[in-house]
Amino acid sequence: MTATSPDANRAPGRTARHYLMCEPVHYTVSYEINPWMDKTRFTDAELAVRQWRTLRDTYLDLGHRVETIDPIPGLPDMVYAANGATVVDGTVYSASFRHPERQPEGPAYQKWFADRGYVTHTAAQINEGEGDLLVVGSVILAGTGFRTDRAAHAEAQELFGRPVVSLELVSPHYYHLDTALAVLSSDAANPQVAYFPPAFSEASRAVLEEMFPDAVLATERDAVALGLNAVSDGENVVVAPGAVDLTAALRERGYTPIPVDTSELLKGGGGAKCCTLEIRA
Ligand code: ARG
Repeated sequence: MTATSPDANRAPGRTARHYLMCEPVHYTVSYEINPWMDKTRFTDAELAVRQWRTLRDTYLDLGHRVETIDPIPGLPDMVYAANGATVVDGTVYSASFRHPERQPEGPAYQKWFADRGYVTHTAAQINEGEGDLLVVGSVILAGTGFRTDRAAHAEAQELFGRPVVSLELVSPHYYHLDTALAVLSSDAANPQVAYFPPAFSEASRAVLEEMFPDAVLATERDAVALGLNAVSDGENVVVAPGAVDLTAALRERGYTPIPVDTSELLKGGGGAKCCTLEIRA
């Protein structure tokens, strides 16, 4: 995916998106399954809901379609809808969570899709949805090391009929691929990503360099703000306000960064992208 035109590094332009989200009315940190979570720390569900609504309204203002799934009491991480499934060409690959605390979320999200007539596939392998499976143009980048099993990458490839490229995550703070890599353009002719190199094994870094020689490389400052947990429509990029280097790099390439504060949701280890499951018809 080497540059083929002078505009290869530039924002290709917005395309309308369809998202699924889950309002964090039951938000809390009552268990710890990633290094961001500290159950002794105060969480404010009302603030989480306000930040979440701002995020939802941002998508609506950008002209995207947002649907919601009803939050289930006792499943506080359900707000991180990205983990609920992976949807490509209208086919739903259900999530199967690593930790028992989140396991009921997989069937809950799968039911949401089945009730609406989607063809759903129950996962045989452990995978945490779009947290680890990111569609970039014609390929799917797939994280492993902390949550999603490598065997799920093969399962996704057979299901979707798209090449799945495995990437090894090595840094516990960046436990899902979408905390370490952002898809900026999913345009098959002009795929673009931003990523934080230290989150990947040496070999996986080499794979990323080979596939995306012109990728935006995020700084430590961007990464610790969970700036890579960003949502792009090909032009507008919803990003954590603390990701200042990433924001500047995006602007240089013709993207419009839209800072949205999701600091309360960061206490659970997630940002904008974690709260957003893309439905690809
Ligand atoms: N507390 C959740 C977990 O550790 C956060 C999930 C964040 N979601 C994401 N797509 N990275 O599973």
